[in-house]
Amino acid sequence: MADADNTEAKNYAADVPMRSEPFFLKGSNNLDWGMKNRLAAIFNPSSGRTVMLAFDHGYFLGPTSGLERVDLNIVPLIQYADTLMLTRGILRTSIPPTYTRGIVLRASGGPSILKELSNEEIAVSIDEAIRLNVAAMAVQVFVGGEHETRSVHNMTRLVDMGNRHGIATLAVTAVGTEMVRDAKYMRLATRMCAELGATYVKTYYVDEGFETVTAACPVPIVIAGGKKLPEAEALQLAHNAVQQGAAGVDMGRNIFQSEAPVAMIQAVRGVVHKNLSPKEAYDLYLTLKDGDEHPADS
Ligand code: 5RP
Repeated sequence: MADADNTEAKNYAADVPMRSEPFFLKGSNNLDWGMKNRLAAIFNPSSGRTVMLAFDHGYFLGPTSGLERVDLNIVPLIQYADTLMLTRGILRTSIPPTYTRGIVLRASGGPSILKELSNEEIAVSIDEAIRLNVAAMAVQVFVGGEHETRSVHNMTRLVDMGNRHGIATLAVTAVGTEMVRDAKYMRLATRMCAELGATYVKTYYVDEGFETVTAACPVPIVIAGGKKLPEAEALQLAHNAVQQGAAGVDMGRNIFQSEAPVAMIQAVRGVVHKNLSPKEAYDLYLTLKDGDEHPADS
């Protein structure tokens, strides 16, 4: 109970103006407190960047390489991630509820790898997202794809639902195999997502002009890792992306398919949060690798 004979308060520091600081994330200053709080559970407020560990691939691929046993392959990695990107099925069955960082929930789906992938619908309700206490919902956007308009509308509907409850929306720009992966396409896709309300956007790194993609997008961009590369190349990719304006990585295969995933995720963290050079990060990977092994192999 509060002290009833409280002496009169007098320490008003009337000469000290109250601080009003901008929020650390690009384009996020005018969001509400709850949304900012959730974004701070995805992005590290000190570096302004994130290492998202993505392992939602099973939602259209099934148990792909490295994700055969999420309990064995992925759970040992989660302590090194700033946030997890996954489906609700894997969240409920395989991730300990003691995980307290942000959850980015895969919220679109429908077709499998056997069909036209752009033919997606929203695959989760807002009630479910709230029940699972997620920080963001992720939706695929197929700019230029067969079902472009539907995927854009999936995103705008999730933005409306998420904004009502302070839950962020991650627009994932999905590039069809028939499309040219260049800066021009990435500028178009990322800018469309931001203009139509995405809180942040995931795209792919391109060698030429990636800095124009991040510059033209008024919300944070994170890059997908894409197909498995040799570790040194994946670290170089992450380094290039953050040095050219990305707010981090949403990396899956280049971590969980690595020879030494625990070492790799820590090396990626070094690049993203400590600005390690690709060589420094690779050396760190090699040093840590000795103590690392695939849990499922043992
Ligand atoms: C699947 C996804 C993945 O989460 C995304 O592509 C990141 O994973 P990777 O680094 O393996 O590309 O959105 O559709």
